[in-house]
Amino acid sequence: MRILLLTNDQVLSLAEMAECVEEMRKAFVMSGEGKVESPLRTRFAMTDVRNVLMMPSLIRGELDTLSLKIVSVYPDVGQGKPSLSATVILLDGSDGSIKALMGGTALTAIRTGAVTGLSCRYLARADAKVLAMIGAGGQGFHQISGVVSQVRVGKINIFDLDLERSRSLADRCKRELGIAADLSGTVKEAVTGADVVVTATTSRTPVLRGGEVDQGTHVAAIGAYTPDSRELDSHLVSKASIYVDSMEAAMAEAGDILIPMKEGVITKENIRGDLAGLVTGTVRGRTDQREITLFKAVGLAFEDNAVGWLLYRKALSAGIGQWVNL
Ligand SMILES: NC(=O)c1ccc[n+]([C@@H]2O[C@H](COP(=O)([O-])OP(=O)(O)OC[C@H]3O[C@@H](n4cnc5c(N)ncnc54)[C@H](O)[C@@H]3O)[C@@H](O)[C@H]2O)c1
Repeated sequence: MRILLLTNDQVLSLAEMAECVEEMRKAFVMSGEGKVESPLRTRFAMTDVRNVLMMPSLIRGELDTLSLKIVSVYPDVGQGKPSLSATVILLDGSDGSIKALMGGTALTAIRTGAVTGLSCRYLARADAKVLAMIGAGGQGFHQISGVVSQVRVGKINIFDLDLERSRSLADRCKRELGIAADLSGTVKEAVTGADVVVTATTSRTPVLRGGEVDQGTHVAAIGAYTPDSRELDSHLVSKASIYVDSMEAAMAEAGDILIPMKEGVITKENIRGDLAGLVTGTVRGRTDQREITLFKAVGLAFEDNAVGWLLYRKALSAGIGQWVNL
């Protein structure tokens, strides 16, 4: 069996964010049409904070494409080191063969940025221009790219507990996106006046509070992915119009939603719908300029599948990657 190896750097070089967002939109349409099988992931809890996740998926279409991601999230590995490392395997459903093995760390960051970007397309105000990025780790730049691909961002505020990471993210925004980014001293400073706020931290307790978020803001919360961890306080969740990446996954994994539900602050009925509903028009989006919209994403296996296959096809036509015989 001959497979294509794509490194994380090659994955990054092949990815164009606006194109990935569009591919993601198509994948969520297919999910809405019932063409996607993306069962809840298997999570092995190695310690209280360390998890290894196994994430399989199938997208049925002209081509039946399958993927399997193995991702380790070890937020306590050490100062300055990224907490996430992943590998993605792509399989061709027509003959069951493995087609590619790709750097899943880069792919995860890109597809998660694309999902956040897609949420902005449907939920951010049309006149949004200030972005607050809370968390400047492995996801930070790609979250910003996802937003920038959909929103005319003129200013970025960055807050992270680690000042060096904030600095290096700000430099990268200037260098690669041509947008100036300010370093904020607190979350409150970062989000004051922001139209879009993204949280992508490894915090298990709230970093963003309802009292700090302006009316009309779109919040994308992507950092927390277990039922007992959250980045948002209950006040924020209670006053927002809530959307999720998947209702099934949110009800199993999203502490940001499950903890306020347990407290009796919201019920499942407070969730307006999922991203598949938004992109297919069965779920209504933002209804007015003063509404706070909240998109909570825990991450879904078919997102890796959709963007992984897009980049695999691009690699084939560009002649990128290394072929190996297994
Ligand atoms: N929803 C999804 O699809 C999805 C996808 C990828 C990653 N994630 C999750 O997103 C989180 C971030 O991932 P990453 O790869 O960027 O991790 P990372 O370890 O590279 O960076 C996390 C950053 O969060 C910062 N941080 C932690 N607590 C903070 C706080 N209270 N306030 C401000 N900053 C704080 C750290 O200093 C660090 O810079 C992880 O929990 C990861 O599992 C979710």
